[in-house]
Amino acid sequence: MKWDPEKYVQFADHRDRPFFDLTSRVTAIDPTLVVDLGCGPGPLTRSLAERWPDARVVGLDSSDEMVQKACSAQHPPNLEFELADASSWMPDPNTDVLVSNAMLQWIPGHRELMVKWLGALKPGSWFAVQVPGNFSSPSHALMRELADSERWAPKLAGVLRHDDAVGEPEDYLKILLAAGFETDVWETTYGQVLAGKDPVLEWVRGTALRPVLAKLNREESEEFESDYARLVARAYPPFEGVNGESLTMFPFRRIFMVGRKR
Ligand SMILES: C[S@@+](CC[C@H](N)C(=O)[O-])C[C@H]1O[C@@H](n2cnc3c(N)ncnc32)[C@H](O)[C@@H]1O
Repeated sequence: MKWDPEKYVQFADHRDRPFFDLTSRVTAIDPTLVVDLGCGPGPLTRSLAERWPDARVVGLDSSDEMVQKACSAQHPPNLEFELADASSWMPDPNTDVLVSNAMLQWIPGHRELMVKWLGALKPGSWFAVQVPGNFSSPSHALMRELADSERWAPKLAGVLRHDDAVGEPEDYLKILLAAGFETDVWETTYGQVLAGKDPVLEWVRGTALRPVLAKLNREESEEFESDYARLVARAYPPFEGVNGESLTMFPFRRIFMVGRKR
């Protein structure tokens, strides 16, 4: 599955906010090694390098496109980016801060991985993760329903993640506690207002729809997208803004966990 960094940053304001809400709860004073796992196109990792100029900050991602985009921008000398697949990765035991924003939902079995990572981190280290908690929301449920329909099932069966792709806040809280972390776990539903035509389709084109697009040719993708756009427009009806523009409320639930190892 390919990522498109340009498409991903289309809603940067909405997509970036949870990262800052997450990392504002990490109060590490003087870390020496900070890792951003599943760093994406780079600007958010850069904010970590600017926040901790004396730390070595490493952004890791399994997508060539994302790492290339991250490396192509000018960045401070304490920041580097590398290709890495989180599903077979382990943290350097000297890591002081491990951040992962909107990535773990892509890895089946990530809760087991988390247990291993938390065990490998040293006392005093920080762990900060955010995952979307919206797999049962209409944007995802309708996509699965369409993919499972008679028309698409032969091509798309098993391609999409199900509503158990992420755990509930309590599941993560228990994992952190069992690993000896002081914890702070919470959830937020952002009342995102998106402008323009078919904004929910535009949003998922950058993320959740990518596994579908990877399986279909151009004509098929257009047909799938047009059916999907019709379904989501009913679930998230557009309304007129004060200046006559088309607006859509797209509520988005996210789950946050921050811990510090005792
Ligand atoms: C939704 S984006 C989030 C990017 C960035 N963290 C942000 O908050 O903007 C998900 C990122 O996770 C990366 N990713 C997905 N699976 C991964 C894996 N197994 N190992 C490393 N990165 C992965 C993708 O390549 C993508 O850049």
